[in-house]
Amino acid sequence: MSDLVLWGASGHGKVVLDVARTMGGFRTISFIDDACEEPGRKFCDCPVSGARQYLDSLGGAVHSRYLVSIGQNVIRARCFGRAIEYGLLPATLIHPSAIVSDSARIAEGSVVMPRVVINASAQVGRNCIINTAAVVEHDCRIGDHVHLSPGVLLGGNVAVHSFAHVGIGAVALPGAEIGEGAIVGAGAVVLDSVPPGATVVGVPARALALMRS
Ligand SMILES: CC(C)(COP(=O)(O)OP(=O)(O)OC[C@H]1O[C@@H](n2cnc3c(N)ncnc32)[C@H](O)[C@@H]1OP(=O)(O)O)[C@@H](O)C(=O)NCCC(=O)NCCS
Repeated sequence: MSDLVLWGASGHGKVVLDVARTMGGFRTISFIDDACEEPGRKFCDCPVSGARQYLDSLGGAVHSRYLVSIGQNVIRARCFGRAIEYGLLPATLIHPSAIVSDSARIAEGSVVMPRVVINASAQVGRNCIINTAAVVEHDCRIGDHVHLSPGVLLGGNVAVHSFAHVGIGAVALPGAEIGEGAIVGAGAVVLDSVPPGATVVGVPARALALMRS
């Protein structure tokens, strides 16, 4: 049994905590958060300490597992890398109600929320959030530090590149490609491709810049 450290005492942190508690198997669960330096503070009945303070206190062999429970992709990626430098081991958390094909692969540091479906041969990268009830169909390829929001539906063979954020309830048709760092607005339907760094909204999804002009 290992100890679990969740980095980020926020709303998303609460949901990740529920996943970890439902899974069980951790000796202790605690939070770290840069916003907390106060000794003795609790968050959802778990102890919280300052992230810097906690990492600096580590020395020698570290057996704790960690997961970064921060929704924002770039900040989550930074914390993910920093924790590895300090010798922490990334956890992979999968809620027991999620359905994950035996042929799917989920890399370290990712969390799979309740009622998610990840189908045959899909691949999910490191430090991703596959949020409540998202569906990742067969052969999808999800990069690192991606956030698929609640209720996202990805058809078969969709590629979502690293750092992309797909908003609540968005849909990507089979074979679509969502570029690195792109943002897909809530409820959008992506028919084919979203360029890297673009923000798209609507049905069918169009660049937000075009909608504004
Ligand atoms: C797409 C998104 C990132 C745009 O955010 P933003 O840059 O702050 O945009 P604004 O709120 O200023 O809206 C700009 C315009 O786009 C429209 N718009 C924003 N989001 C939209 C959406 N999802 N679908 C359709 N239109 C949308 C607004 O109505 C506004 O139109 P207007 O200029 O005609 O008034 C955001 O609205 C969104 O959908 N985020 C996803 C949130 C989410 O799912 N979070 C997951 C948490 S678990």
